[in-house]
Amino acid sequence: MLDIEMVKQFYAAYSSKISTVRGTLKRPLTYAEKILFTHLYDEASLKPLKRGVDYADFRPNRVAMQDATAQMALLQFMNAGREHVAVPASVHCDHLIRADEGAKDDLGVACKENKEVYDFLRSASNKYGIGFWGPGAGIIHQVVLENYAFPGGMMIGTDSHTPNAGGLGMAAIGVGGADAVDVLTGQPWELRMPRIIGVHLHGELQGWAAPKDVILTILGLLTTKGGTNAIMEYFGEGTKSLSTTGKATICNMGAELGATCSLFPYDDNADEYLCQTGREQVATMARQHAVDLRADADVEFHPEMYYDQVIDLDLSKIEPHLNGPFTPDAATPISQMREKGPANGYPMNVEVALIGSCTNSSYQDLSRAASVARQALALHLKVKAQLIVCPGSEQIRCTAERDGILDDFRAIGAVVMANACGPCIGQWKRHTDDNTRKNAIVTSFNRNFRRRADGNPNTYAFIGSPEMTVALALAGKLDFNPATDCLVNEEGKEVMLKEPQGFVFPPQGFTCGNKGDAISTLEQEGLFVPPTEQHTDMNVVISPDSQRLQRLEPFAAWDGNDLQDMPLLIKVKGKCTTDHISMAGPWLRFRGHLQNISDNLLMGAVNAFNGESNKVKDQIDGQYKAVSAAAKDYKAHNMGSIIVAEDNYGEGSSREHAAMEPRFLNVKVVLAKSFARIHETNLKKQGMLALTFANKDDYDKVQEDDRISVAGLKAFAPGKPLTVTLTHKDGTSDSFEALHTYNQIQIEWFKAGSALNNLLRS
Ligand code: F3S
Repeated sequence: MLDIEMVKQFYAAYSSKISTVRGTLKRPLTYAEKILFTHLYDEASLKPLKRGVDYADFRPNRVAMQDATAQMALLQFMNAGREHVAVPASVHCDHLIRADEGAKDDLGVACKENKEVYDFLRSASNKYGIGFWGPGAGIIHQVVLENYAFPGGMMIGTDSHTPNAGGLGMAAIGVGGADAVDVLTGQPWELRMPRIIGVHLHGELQGWAAPKDVILTILGLLTTKGGTNAIMEYFGEGTKSLSTTGKATICNMGAELGATCSLFPYDDNADEYLCQTGREQVATMARQHAVDLRADADVEFHPEMYYDQVIDLDLSKIEPHLNGPFTPDAATPISQMREKGPANGYPMNVEVALIGSCTNSSYQDLSRAASVARQALALHLKVKAQLIVCPGSEQIRCTAERDGILDDFRAIGAVVMANACGPCIGQWKRHTDDNTRKNAIVTSFNRNFRRRADGNPNTYAFIGSPEMTVALALAGKLDFNPATDCLVNEEGKEVMLKEPQGFVFPPQGFTCGNKGDAISTLEQEGLFVPPTEQHTDMNVVISPDSQRLQRLEPFAAWDGNDLQDMPLLIKVKGKCTTDHISMAGPWLRFRGHLQNISDNLLMGAVNAFNGESNKVKDQIDGQYKAVSAAAKDYKAHNMGSIIVAEDNYGEGSSREHAAMEPRFLNVKVVLAKSFARIHETNLKKQGMLALTFANKDDYDKVQEDDRISVAGLKAFAPGKPLTVTLTHKDGTSDSFEALHTYNQIQIEWFKAGSALNNLLRS
């Protein structure tokens, strides 16, 4: 199922390519550089590249897509006119399954409700030669780690947590669907050469601390912007003490740092993980290249000479953390929560505890968390919060079921949901008596933006490790520190929990049931359909009346003029993630229908002029209305409009809907203080202008009734600023410079109307 021939060819050339790179750069190499330079699209283009400045074209080995983003990616691929994908690829049905009653019922409902979308994805996968993982097979990143990832490889995925595969030493990068189309059509895939941040790990985790706490600690140090346009490369003795799945957790949440991807070196743990998951052949090849599946020794001795920044972390000093609410970088060591919680007005009672997601649903995670659940039973502790478990894959679920782990959770009242994203992506039918009450939930997920899990703005979501999540469910308190605090059991006795214990690998090995190996079992159960080798004549049917799927019409090319007197659509105040721009939850059902999903445009963003969400002034009629309604009005009057925003605009996911929706509604420009990497690329790919204030204070000059012009487009060139002019209602005006990061090819995308239009022209 893993394209073993592709992997063999890759390793056959790997070491000699690295010698060539070392010879050209004339210095030792970081691991990130080894992977990037061995994946250049055109080997003849090899030359030193300036990190953070130069762009380069790459040839990733694989593409993975999840169902919510694959729809738009495949709709674009269909317009590219190819018969078969150019590289191995897979589609994973994980985002559209709602968590409500439990796995069996919820899967049945999802298959019925999403039939049209699943049929589309299955038929398109089959037609174009893409592996198809059906609903219930598991979450994209867990499935990729278990089946497709290999050390030294490079992949892209239409999901921001694709970097999860870095736990197995693969440079795995989250992108939008248009980037996926580049790779699927065999075109070069472009990336600005990232900075490289070295993270030197020492020591070993102790007690209740888990790999999750490593990344929660780093988030506290670097914030959600700290990894922007950077690869996080881990090295040092400390890396050896972490399991592959623990490393994957750390790499997964590198996305929360804004990092391009994260990487761990190949080691014995990775070797064993490959063997335990049925990839002995890959392990044998990787072992032969082990010396090049890590940074060169000189880099590790003198990291400050080769990394752009070095962070030293002693794992033995890391304490369990709870990060939140509302942002994953609000880091609090558990011992400080007692003081910090009340001081910040956090609701201190934990109402729901949720385990799982692509971040934390490995066998090790579940077995450690289950050891806490078993203690609760033995100590006669009553669970204070509702407990929900979402396994990451069918292989994990089946193995955990066989080994009694899921029964350990059920014994303390947990509900086991489907192997899917569920509450992590707002697909949670939460039952609550009063959703106006401020309430706290704790999850082992990776994101905690306001409204993300249950759509309720009054929910304060905190992120921790799975074992801490269970401990807090038992205590029902946000400030419970299991290392120091007692709990009172049903007999009124004070008891203490012991440190969690678990297995890195299942003592009896992984299983998917009794029908042979994992993959053939999944195939027999219809959960996996392998890719076809050849193009098939299969029809991909999209009903013209569908409310879920809509064929894409190409966006219009640039008309050759500067942008004149565009009304301000919204001036966004504060954090604006892709969740704010294109909300998930109930809107996920429209991910294949651009017109319908555009109705959610920026509904979560706060209008700087009234402090309200989804209420902006329409300059045509002076009425306050939904952002999408105002944009539609401007579009109907043949007017473009402009979005103004603050820092890190588009933080969060890879969903390109956040770029396609404004494009569809005739928004021409997003002018921000700064952008998150994937979203900035998505805007460029869809033919939008992504500009930044040369002077961030100019943001303050933008007024509600402004008409805004952008000049300089006729001479649009790399590195050359454009000029923005605000014409205020009172007739006065302000002009200032706006910067951009467009290179020449990206300027061609803008001119053509989108990268896809440009591809079809060439
Ligand atoms: Fe799914 Fe949440 Fe991961 S939406 S892919 S489980 S971040």
